[in-house]
Amino acid sequence: MRMVDIIKKKRNALSLTEEEIRFFVNGYTDGRIPDYQASALLMAIYFNGMTEQETALLTKMMVESGDTIDLSAIKGHKVDKHSTGGVGDKTTLIVAPLVASVGVPVAKMSGRGLGHTGGTLDKLESIENFKIELDNQQFIDHVNNYKIAVAGQTGNLAPADKKLYALRDVTATVDSIPLIASSIMSKKLASGADSIVLDVKTGTGAFMKTLEDSEALAQEMVKIGNNLGRNTIAVISDMNQPLGYEIGNANEVREAVEVLQGKNVYDLKQLALELATQMTLLANVFSTYDEAYEALEQNLKNGKAFSMFRQFVKAQGGNVARIDHLDTLPTASYHIKVNSPTDGYVNAIDAEAIGIAAMYLGAGRATKEDTINYGVGITLSKKIGDQVKQGEPLAILHADSELPKDAIATVLKAFRITENEPTNIKLIYKVIP
Ligand code: URA
Repeated sequence: MRMVDIIKKKRNALSLTEEEIRFFVNGYTDGRIPDYQASALLMAIYFNGMTEQETALLTKMMVESGDTIDLSAIKGHKVDKHSTGGVGDKTTLIVAPLVASVGVPVAKMSGRGLGHTGGTLDKLESIENFKIELDNQQFIDHVNNYKIAVAGQTGNLAPADKKLYALRDVTATVDSIPLIASSIMSKKLASGADSIVLDVKTGTGAFMKTLEDSEALAQEMVKIGNNLGRNTIAVISDMNQPLGYEIGNANEVREAVEVLQGKNVYDLKQLALELATQMTLLANVFSTYDEAYEALEQNLKNGKAFSMFRQFVKAQGGNVARIDHLDTLPTASYHIKVNSPTDGYVNAIDAEAIGIAAMYLGAGRATKEDTINYGVGITLSKKIGDQVKQGEPLAILHADSELPKDAIATVLKAFRITENEPTNIKLIYKVIP
């Protein structure tokens, strides 16, 4: 078999066979196939797509390229949750203790942020001494003892995806439905949960900008999960503005804790409750949607979810005083208002631009080697639908320099102010069972 023939076949929009996909995945993972041939195939896939069967095979080969985690030593039905990447998306920090509070074990391998999207591990590390390195036995013991463990990926999970993702990042082939679906699902399937809830983002801050594309991606991932033996559902949620009001690391932890303490940050709380409800239904803890939703909402109100979060932070070495006294989390030196140039209504907030502005301030990484400044970030003062007067703040930048010009300009440009009040603001578009 020759790689050039596989590239030619996909260039001509034909379907690849199981043997051809295996030849490519194995050959690229062990270095026999060079980057230039893999890039050519990725671009051909980008333009000509893959059938459902090809995408499922690609996913399976990527899972088989490395280790898989065996979570069978954890008691109970393990449900994983994964977001396709958003700005201000701190739902894992709420959802994990919330579902744990009704008895669902959470064994979560998480990632770091890259580019304009934040990562759960970075957020957790803004809590003093929080430790994300757990070996496999510690990971399992923590889930059995404390119901939650969140750790960085250990071992050699889906190494084919790791290599291919890095190549896609520099060859403009990230935003392809079969490539995203196989990339995400290979990691989820390798990390051993019984069921999976996917939060597929749609809008300006998401990889998939249109509802149609987001739905196609969601359908593809749900099919792959179900076909490979995991109960999988997807929630399609809005990313036409950041989620909640806070973007950054310590300030996202602060906002998540406030929701766990009962504060109603509308979109963030609603999405967290929706995802948690779906997870507990997959785990068969409740028999109806309403019963699940009400029990979970109750556990936000009565402090049970917050106690789970405290216990989890303590178990992973974090200083709980930092979350009991939120003003002791890292903060920045300067708090700069970005004011509205005009009267009107906030019609759009480009989530990707807000994520990039936060990265300029030091909250994210442009490259994997960059270090994170936990105290910097952005607080939105207005969200879509809010009325604003000229000179009133749209956002507050938390910075360690007095005049972060790039970030200010980027935030200002992200807001679109119109005379008319926008209608039809949506948070959850669809659930794909
Ligand atoms: N996240 C992933 O893990 N892979 C993709 O391709 C896109 C988002």
